[in-house]
Amino acid sequence: MSSDTHSESRRARPIKPSDTTVCVMGLGYIGLPTASILANKGYHVHGVDVRPEVVETINRGQIHIEEPDLDILVRSAVNSGQLKAGLEPQPADVFIICVPTPINPDHSPDLSYVEQAARAIRPHVRAGNLVILESTSPPHTTERIVLRHAVPDDLAPGRDIFVAHCPERVLPGRILLEAVQNDRVVGGITPACSLKAKEFYETFVNGNVLATSAKTAEVTKLVENSYRDVNIAFANELSILADELEIDPWELISLANRHPRVNILTPGPGVGGHCISVDPWFLVHAAPKITPLIRTAREVNDAKPHHVVEHVVELARQFASPRIGCLGLTYKADVDDLRESPSLDIVRELRKRNAGEVLACDPYVSPERFTEFPLYSLADVLHRSQVLVLLTDHRQFRDVPRKVLQEKVIVDTRGLWR
Ligand SMILES: NC(=O)c1ccc[n+]([C@@H]2O[C@H](COP(=O)([O-])OP(=O)(O)OC[C@H]3O[C@@H](n4cnc5c(N)ncnc54)[C@H](O)[C@@H]3O)[C@@H](O)[C@H]2O)c1
Repeated sequence: MSSDTHSESRRARPIKPSDTTVCVMGLGYIGLPTASILANKGYHVHGVDVRPEVVETINRGQIHIEEPDLDILVRSAVNSGQLKAGLEPQPADVFIICVPTPINPDHSPDLSYVEQAARAIRPHVRAGNLVILESTSPPHTTERIVLRHAVPDDLAPGRDIFVAHCPERVLPGRILLEAVQNDRVVGGITPACSLKAKEFYETFVNGNVLATSAKTAEVTKLVENSYRDVNIAFANELSILADELEIDPWELISLANRHPRVNILTPGPGVGGHCISVDPWFLVHAAPKITPLIRTAREVNDAKPHHVVEHVVELARQFASPRIGCLGLTYKADVDDLRESPSLDIVRELRKRNAGEVLACDPYVSPERFTEFPLYSLADVLHRSQVLVLLTDHRQFRDVPRKVLQEKVIVDTRGLWR
């Protein structure tokens, strides 16, 4: 692909990784795997992050996030010279934006990172380039933020320049596999933009690459996560109802699921991570009057940690000096990601409530990095606690001896020890 000309003949040329440079903006859970997959596919990749320590770590061939096999892929990409990281973008044929898209305290989208990344690449964007937004985004972001801020005014989308949204649907812990195997939705600002983006993804994705408009692609991703949120909210509401009626929620759900057309999801301590607990708000914010179900699901899931805290505080009252062991801080099993974690919120709340001495443990969170409160070993927590609260179903907690559990008051928010 060309970085300095927009003749029809050059644009029509098939994408050849060894002739193509890619600039990836944001080297986190999505950007770094994407950059290293592309580099190992033969693309010349320049990864950009605003955090110097991230850039330095990657240029040493190391990684700053926990993801199976990512260290091997990054080391190979850096050693072969296909992946280099820097603090500033450079001219490239393809730009991919993978920066955070959080929400503000009032649940409105914070698109400042996308805007900053778009503005940063603008001086380097040339005719013939493909600019892709991978960050999960509210409707119109590709057009109103990326096109507006990244693309010089004299370049017409679909003719001189190609702009598209391609949301990520990977599962942390399986990112390298899913980034390549999952079907992908690509939505261009124009049909020609969709086709160009489709052609690019088809060079490294084995799943189907499905072309649509930018707005439909944006909403598709939000709908996927809202679907999960609404269904988890149903399971969480049932678990609270079961507690109220003094029946076992796990038995209730497994019996109901014996119906051939019922498939209730698993309840938990709440919903965390920066996707499912955030993205539905983008839809609510885009159309607040017509999304009561999506909003309510968010509220139900956000209320679940408080329900767990109340339950633990109540149980702890039977001890004169309660010691409450909390197993797990991350938002899901076997990852190190603490973002929006209900498990962490529950531990914070228990500490604030002075419900007793709170002994927290998470084998994926290093005490050097996490300094908010002390962390204990699993053996310590099991030995010292009277009330044991299972918050994240890490595999290390699966095999806690039944004999130890029988000696404690148990709150198992994940049904791991049923
Ligand atoms: N993590 C997931 O499992 C997942 C899955 C699907 C979609 N997403 C979406 O992908 C996007 C990125 O998520 P993530 O998990 O990789 O976030 P992350 O926080 O792990 O990584 C983002 C990186 O971008 C960097 N950054 C911020 N502003 C920048 C800028 N202006 N220029 C260059 N770098 C900048 C940050 O320093 C950080 O390293 C989000 O929109 C998220 O919702 C994430």
